[in-house]
Amino acid sequence: MELQERIDNYVKVTKYPRSLFIGEDGRIVGTWIMGNAYGVKSGYYGGYPAGYLARIKALFPDKQKALHVFSGRVDQSAWPGDTVDLNPAVEPTFLDDAQSLENVPLGDYDIVLADPPYSVEDAEHYVPSMVKRNKVIDALSRVKAGTHVVWLDQVLPMYRKADWRIVAVIGMVKSTNHRFRVIVVFEKLEAEV
Ligand SMILES: C[S@@+](CC[C@H](N)C(=O)[O-])C[C@H]1O[C@@H](n2cnc3c(N)ncnc32)[C@H](O)[C@@H]1O
Repeated sequence: MELQERIDNYVKVTKYPRSLFIGEDGRIVGTWIMGNAYGVKSGYYGGYPAGYLARIKALFPDKQKALHVFSGRVDQSAWPGDTVDLNPAVEPTFLDDAQSLENVPLGDYDIVLADPPYSVEDAEHYVPSMVKRNKVIDALSRVKAGTHVVWLDQVLPMYRKADWRIVAVIGMVKSTNHRFRVIVVFEKLEAEV
C-alpha cells in the first residue's frame, strides 16, 4: 500500500481532520491531538490513550498479524494480537525481554506495535529497569522485510539504516499539561546480500 493510500484510509475510517501529509522526503509527517477523551481504558500506568490503536489501525488496514511489544494491558478489542511483556501479571503471550525477544517467532508478524517506558522514572512503575532502545530495535530486525514497527516514545531510538527505513513521524499530544510524544514508523528493509 502506498503511504498516500494509508493517509486517505485514515481520514476515511476515523473521520478525523486530515493532519498527516507526505513530506518532500517521501515520509508521512503530521500531528495528532487526541482531545479530551484520551483516558487509558485499562487504567494501566503508561497505557495507550483511548483511540490510539484505532488511528494506527486505520493507517494499516492491510496488516494480518500484530505483535504488541511492551504490551502492558493493551486493549485487545481495539487491535487483537500476540503480546510481549516482562510483567507476568499482565499474562503476555510471551513473557520475554524486548531487548532480546528470544522466544518470539518474529517472522510470523507483519506489524509490531511498541510502547516502551519513556524514562527511568517511568520504568520504575514496572518490573524491570529502563530498556536500551537500540537493543530492542536490533532484536526486532529479525522480522521479515516489509514489516512495520510502530514505536511510541519521547525520543527517536537508534537504528541501523541498512535494516530500517523511517516511513512516518507523527507527533502526538493528549491534551494540555501532558507530555508530547512521537510515533515513529519503521519499515524493515530487505537484507543486503
Ligand atoms: C508504557 S507501558 C505499555 C502500556 C501498554 N501500551 C498499554 O496500553 O497498556 C510499558 C510496558 O513495558 C513493559 N516492559 C518494560 N521493560 C520491558 C522489557 N525489557 N521487555 C518487555 N517488556 C518490558 C512494562 O512491564 C510495561 O508493561
